[in-house]
Amino acid sequence: MKPIKVGLLGIGTVGSGTFNVLKRNQLEITRRAGRSIEIAMVADLNVERARELTNGECEVVNDANLVVSNPDIDIVIELIGGYGIARDLVMKAIANGKHVVTANKALLATHGNEIFKAAEEKGVMVAFEAAVAGGIPIIKALREGLTANRIQWIAGIINGTTNFILSEMRDKGLDFATVLKQAQELGYAEADPTFDIEGVDAAHKATIMASIAYGIPMQFDKAHVEGITKLQASDIRYAEELGYRIKLLGISKRTEDGIELRVHPTLIPEKRLIANVEGAMNAVLVHGDAVGATLYYGKGAGSEPTASAVIADLVDITRLATADPEHRVPYLAFQSNSLSDLPVLPMAEIVTSYYLRMHVADKPGVLADVTRILADLTISIDAMLQKEPAEGETQTDIIILTHQTKEKNIVAAIDKIEKLDSVFGEVTKLRLEELS
Ligand code: HSE
Repeated sequence: MKPIKVGLLGIGTVGSGTFNVLKRNQLEITRRAGRSIEIAMVADLNVERARELTNGECEVVNDANLVVSNPDIDIVIELIGGYGIARDLVMKAIANGKHVVTANKALLATHGNEIFKAAEEKGVMVAFEAAVAGGIPIIKALREGLTANRIQWIAGIINGTTNFILSEMRDKGLDFATVLKQAQELGYAEADPTFDIEGVDAAHKATIMASIAYGIPMQFDKAHVEGITKLQASDIRYAEELGYRIKLLGISKRTEDGIELRVHPTLIPEKRLIANVEGAMNAVLVHGDAVGATLYYGKGAGSEPTASAVIADLVDITRLATADPEHRVPYLAFQSNSLSDLPVLPMAEIVTSYYLRMHVADKPGVLADVTRILADLTISIDAMLQKEPAEGETQTDIIILTHQTKEKNIVAAIDKIEKLDSVFGEVTKLRLEELS
């Protein structure tokens, strides 16, 4: 059978990894796919570098439009990133009847619904394994491996940069700004790390996973997004004293009223496997009603780990290229006419446990005032830690862990606690998940 022809848009870290792995493992991949997969054309602004990387083995152009309009190209791999040019090119590729492979989580989380609709109308596939957790085949697991299950919740460490920073903060007792600087020097964090440290990258990935897990359209605009920039070294230390680690989790949960979709620093019991995922590694914990909890672990970024996911998509598309479009795996796991309108819940309505840290006067009645406020709002205390004031000090920290309650109750309690004369400054609130 003649080779399937691929056009690559962008030959940076992931693109060059894809080119190299495809070449190195060509025989194995052909045996799996049933026909050979050939990168026939590459578009990159840096044509010279692209020519060097591809050793003259394929055509190199600087205009991506030439790739998406080339009638010989069957599959377009989009590795440009962002929502601007990448979106135009993906839409053009689809309009020209090409299948698309993309690692672009931002594009899918924000414009996925439009892209999948266009692809369905045109009868082409859009595959995106590399968009979530790099080399971990989590899209395949959610969409196919767990297809028997009613998925109940997902909790993932899906941003390596922030996991590296949190691991270093805990390990070395350093503050956020110091570790961020070190991470940038080591190349673990981008020069502009905003999307990573503010939780946006994780929220894109959590949005995509929620869509596939619960059969809902992509709704990034409804996700709660909170990064790690405000996290204090003291909170990591107190959490540890109480038996917890703090991780930036992308969480989605199915409840009777709707779907929770949120990214924020989260306390998790240190005995959970996922609590011990350190450095830049990723891990996703998925709970299905039949299978129970399943855990997926691996590299969430990098040249060849991400190429591994891109090529898996190329193989899937190659195998199914001649299949009737109606009998392919649906983009979002559920048939497009069976997506659910279950709402994504506002943050006030989510239910979880909380870590509260407050700085207080060390005098009689303070704790009684605080616990009275919590009790009045039916918030139950699970654990507490009070530090002895430092020598000569009259103020100290109190840390309270609560049982599960609605976010709006905690917000109301904090508002009252901050008004007490004996409480100084703002109360720090972190969410806590048992993940049991
Ligand atoms: N910037 C991401 C991370 C990798 O730090 O995990 C690409 O999604």
